[in-house]
Amino acid sequence: MQHTLDAILTSARAEFAADVPLPSRAEFEAAKARYVGPNGQLTAQMKKMGSVPKEERPALGKLINQTKLDVQQLLDAALARIEAGELRASLGPPIDPTLPAPDIGPGSYHPLSAVREELSRILRKVGFTVADGPEVETEYYCFDALNTPADHPARDTQDTFYLPSSVRFANVPKKTEHEHYLLRTHTSSVQIRTMLKGQPPIRIVSPGRVYRRDTTDATHSANFQQLECLYVDKNVTIADLKALLDYLFESLLGKDTKTRFRPHYFSYTEPSFEVDLSARHLPKVNKEWIEIGGCGMVDPAVFADVGYDPEVWSGYAFGMGIERLAMLLYGIDDIRYFYQNDLRFLRQFA
Ligand code: DAH
Repeated sequence: MQHTLDAILTSARAEFAADVPLPSRAEFEAAKARYVGPNGQLTAQMKKMGSVPKEERPALGKLINQTKLDVQQLLDAALARIEAGELRASLGPPIDPTLPAPDIGPGSYHPLSAVREELSRILRKVGFTVADGPEVETEYYCFDALNTPADHPARDTQDTFYLPSSVRFANVPKKTEHEHYLLRTHTSSVQIRTMLKGQPPIRIVSPGRVYRRDTTDATHSANFQQLECLYVDKNVTIADLKALLDYLFESLLGKDTKTRFRPHYFSYTEPSFEVDLSARHLPKVNKEWIEIGGCGMVDPAVFADVGYDPEVWSGYAFGMGIERLAMLLYGIDDIRYFYQNDLRFLRQFA
């Protein structure tokens, strides 16, 4: 039996030696069965143990076990090499990282960024500078300082995303301990931040993201972008406001664009208006008037709150949605296209 066991080990070594070409997985499985399967050579030797004289059994048993271990080790090593080969095959040919990258062409502005930048550029030409404010705001800047009463529906948790009271933002200090952090619902908060930082005259444009608890559909998104304008000086009139809006929309959408004011209510302006646009020359515009934003003359209460004398200073403010304007300009009928990052959509604006 010892000879047979030696012969089995020798043949297994020859079959699975590292320098012998690897068998296929099927060949490997067949070979494995030949050695250690239920009808394999080693199993046959073990079955013979019963007829071995008692005194020879311990030594022979040890030898069989050792041979089994050795053969199993050879099988394991071969299987590992076969698996490594299969993995290499599934990974495809090796990559040469020194080759130049495939030419995917230059990127381009997202349509919302393009419109946002264009609006800021148009306004910079007439003396506005870009101002910024945090997207996580406090109730003071988003509502209180804008003269918005505590029971105004915009403050409702159904309209506004509030943050848990346990959160703290070191770089957005609260004015009072009991006020809440929220995601700003409009960029009008930047008006207050700007006025508190300096003295008139002020002429700022502030584009940025805003958040509302809206259910997403073709014309609503819980996160969208606005652009806010504030002008504070002596003797500012509604005529100045109207002239600026006409200049802005004509520059962006073309000379045939018209604006109209409809009386409205905003707590931070008095009088207040909604702004409508007429732009029939644009493709896909089939309505005469399209609501585009809100505006008005800064309310004296807002000036008083930031420490400006309302008897000396006057000003106008307006705010509008950037998505709405981009949809008009490009003839897009679903706001969700802006956020899907579908290259087939984005490449049209390259
Ligand atoms: N904050 C308003 C909104 O989000 C828009 C707005 C209206 C901004 C009147 C203004 C304003 O500056 O004066 O709907």
